[in-house]
Amino acid sequence: MAEPVVLGIETSCDETSAAVLRGRTILSNIVLSQDEIHAPYGGVVPELASRQHIRSIEPIVRESLDRAGIGLEEIDLFAVTRGPGLIGSLLVGLCFAKGLAYYFKKPLVGIDHLEAHCEAAFLENPDIPLPALALLVSGGHTSLYIIDAPLSFRILGRTRDDAAGEALDKVAKFLGLGYPGGPAIEKGARGGDNRVFAFALPRTKDRSLDFSFSGLKTAAIKHIREKSLSADSPALADFLACFEEAVARALIRNLTAAADTCEPRALILCGGVARNTRLRTRFHEYAGRAGLPAFVPSPRLCTDNAAMIAGLALKKFEAGADCGPALDLDAFAR
Ligand code: KG4
Ligand code: ZN
Repeated sequence: MAEPVVLGIETSCDETSAAVLRGRTILSNIVLSQDEIHAPYGGVVPELASRQHIRSIEPIVRESLDRAGIGLEEIDLFAVTRGPGLIGSLLVGLCFAKGLAYYFKKPLVGIDHLEAHCEAAFLENPDIPLPALALLVSGGHTSLYIIDAPLSFRILGRTRDDAAGEALDKVAKFLGLGYPGGPAIEKGARGGDNRVFAFALPRTKDRSLDFSFSGLKTAAIKHIREKSLSADSPALADFLACFEEAVARALIRNLTAAADTCEPRALILCGGVARNTRLRTRFHEYAGRAGLPAFVPSPRLCTDNAAMIAGLALKKFEAGADCGPALDLDAFAR
């Protein structure tokens, strides 16, 4: 049988995305960012995000089909993010996907956004050895998952306060570096000395694998106030390099603790913050020390995109997941 053609839709936060896959081959993966809309506010404004998704969803789906050279009637399977995310944003994608699946009488698979971030690594490397330990670092979430078997995502730890990306975004906002803050911090940290400013890494007293980034964020803001740092201070690059380094080290410390207890056969780094070069470097350094194969999706598959949604849906569909009745699917915020 010919490989199924999947249309994926992702609208969980501030990216409107649609992708067409034939089997695991990505024919198109269109992402329309709303960065410019939210930049003046230094973060995503939920109401503005959902309104913009309403405007963008139809042209973005159309563009994904055009780029792939596929007609809607050729789609075998529809896939859409159900959550977690902003409920208004999620509902735009979900309703659009339901309408298409209902009209074309094709199955619809609802997808967990966080599992899809992990699955992005398998799109490019289907044979990652299992169990694999995945460190998911995004703007809304920071979590560790153990993937014991295909489609089995078991959470080992999550953030108790801010996500790592959120801490980067908030510190960037405080310095007036723009939104999203992660890429702005990465750019500003270039050439900086990562030993000038001291940051104590967060500690959880109960040996849990949970993360905490609000302490690092507060420490960063304290440094900024005490040294009167601003977007054009000469010491800015050193400061940003130290903060970025502290975030990366806090992430890798918990990854190390998790790997020591669950003895994975491979490591995965995923989510928007996985685009960060310093974090990728620290991740690969650790994997080298641990003697484990390490996988990071290519940058466009790290940040929010619909190809990862379609990829996970296909795997679920092929494993015989319940894909109907489509109209029953609901969105979930968390
Ligand atoms: O996965 P994602 O696109 O959306 C969520 O699911 O949250 O992640 C967005 C996050 C933002 O916090 C953004 O600042 C961060 O990823 N990010 C980066 C980089 N590119 C995006 N953080 C650090 N360095 C980057 N190059
Ligand atoms: Zn995401």
